[in-house]
Amino acid sequence: MNPSSMPDDQRSAYFEQLYRHAADPWQVRRRWYEERKRALLLASLPQQRYGHAYEPGCGNGELTLALARRCERVLAADASLEALQLAQRRLGEAGGDVNVRFAHQRLPQDWPRILQGSDKFDLIVLSEIAYYLAPEELARVVEHSIASLAPGGSIVLCHWRAPFAQRLLSTVRVHAAFQGAPGLHRVLRHEETDFLLGIWSNDARSVAQREGFT
Ligand SMILES: C[S@@+](CC[C@H](N)C(=O)[O-])C[C@H]1O[C@@H](n2cnc3c(N)ncnc32)[C@H](O)[C@@H]1O
Repeated sequence: MNPSSMPDDQRSAYFEQLYRHAADPWQVRRRWYEERKRALLLASLPQQRYGHAYEPGCGNGELTLALARRCERVLAADASLEALQLAQRRLGEAGGDVNVRFAHQRLPQDWPRILQGSDKFDLIVLSEIAYYLAPEELARVVEHSIASLAPGGSIVLCHWRAPFAQRLLSTVRVHAAFQGAPGLHRVLRHEETDFLLGIWSNDARSVAQREGFT
């Protein structure tokens, strides 16, 4: 069956199985590639501190832990219950869970409803998740991201570029969907053989301009 026409529970089952067999299926805690990529992402964030962050597809929580240290509040979500348990344990053990709320959510349908302006996200991080979406699902995620981004907020995308069986969209296509989106301005594009890192904001000013330096 074409993965894009698979029911959601079959797609979730793939991740549940992965996490059941290994607490760190992509070895994000151990590999230098992952540690370096995380450091690049964190160093690229336009703001030193953020208020409210949203990290769907948080996996086993390694990036969540780092985000929790830069943000007042983090909503960390994943379609896999196994992943959420691992993330909760990781943050609990590191003492980094006080400002993190975990939620069982599948994109795009469970994207949080923004009830008041104050609930908007200052930071949205989509790391190694958006290529698992079908094209129409990605379109909804782009719309949700724009609608729920607080003024001056940042949307961060970071994705592996090589082909693999579960991929529904190329990384270039995923990032291009945000690049062409109305009201978003690119703050950063970092390209390597292995991955693309991109940051967009609804504020067109550069980091130095935001500080009033230029
Ligand atoms: C490759 S891992 C990435 C984990 C983490 N973001 C990182 O960068 O290390 C992908 C994660 O996205 C989750 N995921 C995949 N499709 C999803 C969807 N449609 N909605 C929510 N989570 C999803 C998986 O369960 C898995 O934990």
